[in-house]
Amino acid sequence: SRKIIIDFDPGIDDALALCLLLFDPEWEVVAVTAVGGNVSPAVANRNVQALIAYLDPPRIPRIGVATAPDEGLPVEGRFANAVDDLRDAGLPVAELRTPHPSEKVLADEVRAAPHQVTVLALGPLTNLARAMQRDPEFPSLVHRIIIAGGAVQVPGNITPAAEFNIYCDPRAAKMVFASRAPKTLVPLDVTNRLSFSLSLLNDLPSEGTKIGALLRKILPAKFRAYRQQLGLETIHLHDTITYLAACRPDLLRYEMLAGDVESTGEITRGATIFDRRPVPAWRDNRLEVALGIDAGAMRQEFFKRLQQVAEA
Ligand code: BDR
Ligand code: CA
Repeated sequence: SRKIIIDFDPGIDDALALCLLLFDPEWEVVAVTAVGGNVSPAVANRNVQALIAYLDPPRIPRIGVATAPDEGLPVEGRFANAVDDLRDAGLPVAELRTPHPSEKVLADEVRAAPHQVTVLALGPLTNLARAMQRDPEFPSLVHRIIIAGGAVQVPGNITPAAEFNIYCDPRAAKMVFASRAPKTLVPLDVTNRLSFSLSLLNDLPSEGTKIGALLRKILPAKFRAYRQQLGLETIHLHDTITYLAACRPDLLRYEMLAGDVESTGEITRGATIFDRRPVPAWRDNRLEVALGIDAGAMRQEFFKRLQQVAEA
């Protein structure tokens, strides 16, 4: 199995991605690292511990804790996705024994297994930027960074210009984009293509399974948030789709593009910009960007894996 670190800000779709990943025999989850985003760093840490303690996976990954972002979170999280504290969902929280900061855990684990570790980045890119500052060789040692974030041809979601994860820490995103690390971006262009209606709640594994019970507790809040904040009856699962993209890259269509992040703009903070001119001039900052997806096959893949986890 391939080694992976999930770096995220749970978050409801983040939590769902973790459920699937922790029981996926294709991946060895060497670490789970938290970052502030959907929720504050402190709540992200509690949620990560609560989730892992509850899910009790066969192999307990190393945990990295979120610390305060350099500039403070620009939005009070809660964007269509916050679970304030999974304790509210009835999950007990265990004490964390080795509270290493996420960026240290990322840097250590990538160095321990050069060219083998994929990082699945489902939150703001704060920890990855810090890991790169901590260890300048990180970009050449990491196998690949797969990022849930950005918007190429579609509008943003937190602002007209920006997608939430990039918007939260645009300087960090800019640094990651500019790094030599092999990168895949899974932007809103493809994750928006799968919507889930309330019938999702009926299609979950049974209430008697751990994951079925957990998802029944946390997913309704996401439907509520989409209804209240966006007036929508369906939800997106951006992070879960990004995890699936890591498992099934064959279900997406990619282009290599040179991309950058607007880190200071007044109304464009966090916008991702790509040189898609007929004769592009940008030569650096190249990323593999997902621009197409077989949404039907991806939906099937999602339900297949949900069932597999429930039976694991
Ligand atoms: C991203 O923003 C967060 O709310 C989700 O967890 C996802 O990572 C989508 O824009
Ligand atoms: Ca997230």
